This record gives sequence, structure tokens and C-alpha cells, in this order.
Amino acid sequence: MCGIVGYVGRSEAAPILLDGLRRLEYRGYDSAGVAIVDGDHIGTRKCAGRIASLAKLMSEKPLSGSYGIGHTRWATHGKVTDENAHPHFDASGKIALIHNGVIENYQALKDQLAVDGDDQFTSETDTEVLAHLIGNIYRQLDGKDSKARLVNAVRAALKQVIGTYGIAVLHSDIPDFMVGARRGSPLVLGVGKDENFLASDVGAIVAYTRDAVYLNDFDVVAVERDKFEISSLAGEIGDRQVSKVEFTAEDIKKGDYPHYMLKEIFEQPATVRDAMRGRLSLEECTAKLGGLNMTPAQLREVGRVVLTGCGTALHAAMVGEYLIEQLANVPTEVEYASEFRHRNTPMTPDTLVFAISQSGETADTLGALRESRRKGYRTLGICNNVASTIARESDGGVYMHAGPEIGVAATKSFTSQLVILTLIGLLLGRMRSLSTAEGSRIIEALEALPKQIEEVLKLSDEIKAIAKKYADVNGVLFFGRQFNFPIALEGALKMKEITYLFAEGHPSAELKHGIIALVRPDLPSVFIAPDDGVFSKNVNNIEQVKARKGPIIALTSGNGAKKLKGIANDIIEIPDVPDCVSPILTVIPLQLLAYHLAVELGRDVDKPRNLAKSVTVE
Ligand code: AGP
Ligand code: GLU
Repeated sequence: MCGIVGYVGRSEAAPILLDGLRRLEYRGYDSAGVAIVDGDHIGTRKCAGRIASLAKLMSEKPLSGSYGIGHTRWATHGKVTDENAHPHFDASGKIALIHNGVIENYQALKDQLAVDGDDQFTSETDTEVLAHLIGNIYRQLDGKDSKARLVNAVRAALKQVIGTYGIAVLHSDIPDFMVGARRGSPLVLGVGKDENFLASDVGAIVAYTRDAVYLNDFDVVAVERDKFEISSLAGEIGDRQVSKVEFTAEDIKKGDYPHYMLKEIFEQPATVRDAMRGRLSLEECTAKLGGLNMTPAQLREVGRVVLTGCGTALHAAMVGEYLIEQLANVPTEVEYASEFRHRNTPMTPDTLVFAISQSGETADTLGALRESRRKGYRTLGICNNVASTIARESDGGVYMHAGPEIGVAATKSFTSQLVILTLIGLLLGRMRSLSTAEGSRIIEALEALPKQIEEVLKLSDEIKAIAKKYADVNGVLFFGRQFNFPIALEGALKMKEITYLFAEGHPSAELKHGIIALVRPDLPSVFIAPDDGVFSKNVNNIEQVKARKGPIIALTSGNGAKKLKGIANDIIEIPDVPDCVSPILTVIPLQLLAYHLAVELGRDVDKPRNLAKSVTVE
């Protein structure tokens, strides 16, 4: 979580840092702050609240200077207060630090600093302890070259740290210089002309440069206006490639949409198309996924699949389990990334692991990926962020190509993940017993999706009217079966995240095993009941809710609407599609329902309370 940005150049740092922070705000928005050096004076402004509050503070009390650092926080240690906002300083007040991550052994380090009399802290954060530690070591180091001294102090301090960090550090006595380092939290160096940048995400700096160096764990980078040097924590100088950023600043604009989330929902005809572009072979009735880096023989030998991720990505994995088992008949397990890491999942030598993550930076998923690779399993990534840590550390994978997703609630990345999992099921299936006829039926179904999504998006106003009707409810239940059971979970997650309403998703049949006790007139149930093989079973459950005066919103297709007329209070009709691609359509009305209800309730849709887009802490 949290966003960090740093600048060393010839322009005024303040507007660049504020602009960067605005673009990073989706990563965390509890508080924000900057430190900018002017001559030998270090000025800082920080406050609890959004970037807008910081911008206001800076317009009242401006800061001048051409190098500085900025931070937007998602609190892990210490309340959301002005004092706990970053940057934090060392005891001399000359070294400023911003940090993304968690210093797990901060208490032990604090006790150790106290022995040296360094015990005056102004915040409750773990971060401030690191700032003091760097300062403490810096004072003890000799050497005329103050730049090398600062780099060495950062290295020595980080060697003592247990935890995760992406940091940027500067010293008011060392002009036009900053130090960055990472372990477990993302950090990218932006290479400009006579100016250089540091950021958690290239999105923060892409308006200024599209040349970037994606830093690796244990990298330390010394940044000046016209040069940079990357070394390891051990001090070895490293060579890194400068890459071109794929997207432009234009791609991360909201355009005419009131919220990023709505824009991203409406991008789905294109993003679903992009997820399958060039990956379908009509001739061979299969999928082509070169990025997996596996030969047909190796793919043929896969005896078991493990899909792991968190939140929305985990829900995609759950659909993936149905898909891969149905299409390829390969036993598939879904594991919460956070659990997988710490438990002993039985794995056979022929297990193939997929880590699914939009950001490619989620700490739990990264932990699972590393654990799986450490054990020697081939571990592939399904990521959106091409330069992310998960993408770089996996043995291969499939990119979503969905473009930047800014809304904290994941939407387009989910449907892209579903397309990719369908392609994986198709590929593995066609190497086993899936017939050419079945293969081409799936390809046809996939190719028809973008147009069908356009049809579903036309329902937005209708769904808005339904949302208005239910604005006073006390919660929402979601039910679905088979492929659409995970969609019930995803519908509930979207609802919780952005409306703050209590919401739960369940397999429809579980209703009678306990959940039905919740049913009452102010708690609507959303049934995902397309006209498929389990439609009549869903109708039974719908009747059970109706008999107990629970309002019903039914999402259906084909002849479903006719059959549900008079039973469901509201019916949303979507195109009829084969069951294995159905989740790609059914989730969209649920995204829209959560969106419109959240707007109706006046919620901050793109930045819901307590959340952050990329969860880079455990
Ligand atoms: C989705 O709406 C959530 N914000 C969250 O559950 C998210 O899907 C999860 O944190 C995983 O993120 P990732 O895909 O970037 O790894
Ligand atoms: N652990 C630090 C804090 O609570 C940094 C959190 C973050 O990554 O925003 O302030």
C-alpha cells in the first residue's frame, strides 16, 4: 500500500510531487506529505486526509526547491494523524524518509537506538524508527563523500531491518541527491533528461518520462539529476536495463466518466478482446499462450493445477477451478495466497501453480509465488502490470493487457483474468480429451463476448433504477451455482467494498443450510440464474426466499425471464451464452449494481474507506 514519489531535477519539485501523489492516491489515502529541500533548508508539509488537503496546505504554505519526496499513506503502524503522516525524520532533522511497507522489528531497533540516547520520536510509526536508524548510522560513518556516506548508512540500516520496504531518503546537506531502496514493496526509477524520479508505480511519473528502470528486491539506487547508480544491499554495482513504459499519461485519465470504476467497467468490451487477442487458433481449435514458456510435452504432463491469489483474483481462480476441471479434466485447487504460504498444501511433482494478480505486487500473492518456486514448482503469473514483481519473478505467464486499473474495486482485471483462465482450460483441454468441436465452440463463445458485453452495458440505466429502489436496504445477499457461485462472492465483495453494506455470497443451495435465517424484507437477494443446466434448481431457491418475504433481484438469460416473471421483484436479462463463459457476462451487472448503489449512497467509489488498491503489506 501507499505511494511514494521522489524528484531530483531543475524544475520546482512541489507540483511534480503533488501530481505524482494524485496519481498514486489509489494506493493509499489516509494521509499525505512531502519534504522538499531549498538550499540547505528542508521544508515539510503533511496532514491526515487526502492529497487535496495536502495541496491546500501547500498552497497556503508553499515549498520551493528542485528535489524532494512525497508520500500517500495507508496506515499499518500508528493511527491516521498528521504526526504519523510521512515523511519522517532522523534525530538531526536533516534526513527525511518515506516508506511503503512494514518494519517488523521496529521495536527492537527502537530499543537499540535508545541505548545511544536516540529516543525522541514524534510519531507512532515503524517508519520513523528506520529514519532514526539511518541517521544514527550516518553520524557514526566517516568519509568526505557525503553521498557515499548516505548510501552506506541506508545499506547498513536496511541490513538490520526485518520486513518490507520501498523507501526514498534525502539529506538536506546533500544537494540534488536522493537514495531509494526496495524489498517486497515496488519501486521504479524514472529516467528523464536532466531529471530523475522515484515512484511506487510508473503511473506517477509517466507524464514526465516513459523511460524506467524497475528495481529488484535488495537494490539500492543513488539518484542525481543526470545520473543514477544501482547497487545491491551488499554494495555490488549492478547494471539495469532501461525499459519503455507501455502506456501514456492519457491512458490513466478519467475522461468523461465521473469515476474510474465506471470507466473501467465500460472498457470491458475492449479489455476482454485484448486478453484474447492473438491467442486463439481457429484452425487448431485451441489457445496459444507462448508466455507460459512450456513445451507441449511439458503442458501435457501437468497433472494438477493450483490457482492462488487474493480478493477478486481469488474469485477468478475459483471460476478457473471449474473451467480447468471441466475443459481439461485436470484436478485444480484454489488456495488463498495468504494461506498457501504458511500451510503445507500437498503438491505432486507435476503440479503447475498460477499466481493471479492485477497489480503483480500483492504481498500475499508474491509470498505464495516465492514459496511455490522455492519448493521447485513451476509457477506462472497472470498479471496486468507487466513490470511488476510477480510478473518478473514467475517462470512465465500470461499478461492481461487490460491497461491501468485505478478504481480500487477491481472490475476489468477480473474479466480479463476469466478470459485467460478460459484460454488455459482450452489449451490444457485440447491436449487431452476436449474435441475440436468443443474447442471451436469455446472459441466462438469467447469471440462473441465483446459484443455481448456491449449489450450488457446498455443495461446500466436500468440497473441504476434498481439500485435507487434498494438504497435503504440493510445488506445484500448473492447466490449462484457452479461457474456463477464465485460470481456471487465477487458481487458481494464489490458491494461491501464500495457501498459499505453488509453483503455475502453463497452457493444457492447453501441457502437452506442456514443463510435463510437472514432473509427479511429489507435484505434483498441477488440470484445469478442464467438459463443453464442448474436454472430450475436456482428457481427452487428463489421460491424459498420469496416465501419468506425476501426481495429478489434475478439475473437471468434465455427463457429465464419468462419463468421468473411474477416471482422475482426485479429481473436483469443478459444474453444467453455457454456456461463456461457465462461469468464474464454475469459479473458486469453486479459491478454496475454495486457502483450505482454506492453513488446513490454518496460513497467515495474510487477510493472506498480503509482500502488501498495494491496491498503490498501482509
Ligand atoms: C478487489 O476489488 C479488491 N480491491 C482486492 O480484493 C484485490 O482484488 C486484491 O487485493 C488482489 O489484488 P491484485 O489482483 O492486485 O493482486
Ligand atoms: N508502515 C508505515 C506506516 O504505517 C508505512 C505504511 C504504508 O506503506 O503506507 O506508516
